[in-house]
Amino acid sequence: MRKPLVAGNWKMNGTRASLAEIGEMAKACDATLRAKVDVMVCPPATLLFPAAALALGSAVSIGAQDCSPLGEGAHTGDLSAGMLFDSGAKAVIVGHSERRADHGEKDADVAAKAAAVLAQGMMPIICVGETRAEREAGKALAVVARQVRGSVPKDAPAGGFVVAYEPVWAIGTGLTPTLQDIADMHAEIRRTLARLLGKPAAQATRLLYGGSVKPANAAEILNLADVDGALVGGASLKAADFLAIIRAA
Ligand code: 13P
Repeated sequence: MRKPLVAGNWKMNGTRASLAEIGEMAKACDATLRAKVDVMVCPPATLLFPAAALALGSAVSIGAQDCSPLGEGAHTGDLSAGMLFDSGAKAVIVGHSERRADHGEKDADVAAKAAAVLAQGMMPIICVGETRAEREAGKALAVVARQVRGSVPKDAPAGGFVVAYEPVWAIGTGLTPTLQDIADMHAEIRRTLARLLGKPAAQATRLLYGGSVKPANAAEILNLADVDGALVGGASLKAADFLAIIRAA
């Protein structure tokens, strides 16, 4: 059985004042919740260390939002997987559509980043998702399957990574695909992983849905067979909203 994972992506939001929200989340995730769902918050890199210290011993683990594929050296402004691990991160989001769009990251870049995260003993959360134009052209399944083939490292260990399906047009818009479209896409991603890594690895991999997940729609989305959790943006910034989604999971 795959344990659900609810992860919050704070994106470029949050200062030290926001750490109180993580403190509140950590306090509210009791033993009963912890037994049923994994909880993660991915704050900006500036907050990784204090967030990890605050959440230590709680059910909340801390992740990062991006990393360099490289080890160390003359790469001004970049952060290696090793540095993120040293700051307390247990996972790293890679290939988010905002990084693919803002920084021109391609599938091969994403795969290299995911490999660096795995080499550091952390869990990559590998993001894929079609644009509105690709969906309207009927290409969503093919585009996402291609992204999965290109972005998941060929030797990724079973259960050691997560794939997050985030349709670009659903991010921050209040729009979501139909439940049938989410179910179809997650089934397609699992089939693609099975062809890539074998059926046991595909069955062990958690597939998250992301894009305008809110307390009001979380339960129906998380109830779908191949949806093993959520990657939450805006609604993860406030403990009350995020906790409602965690309880739905
Ligand atoms: P929203 O939940 O704000 O739509 O963002 C989703 C997302 O991009 C998470 O990575």
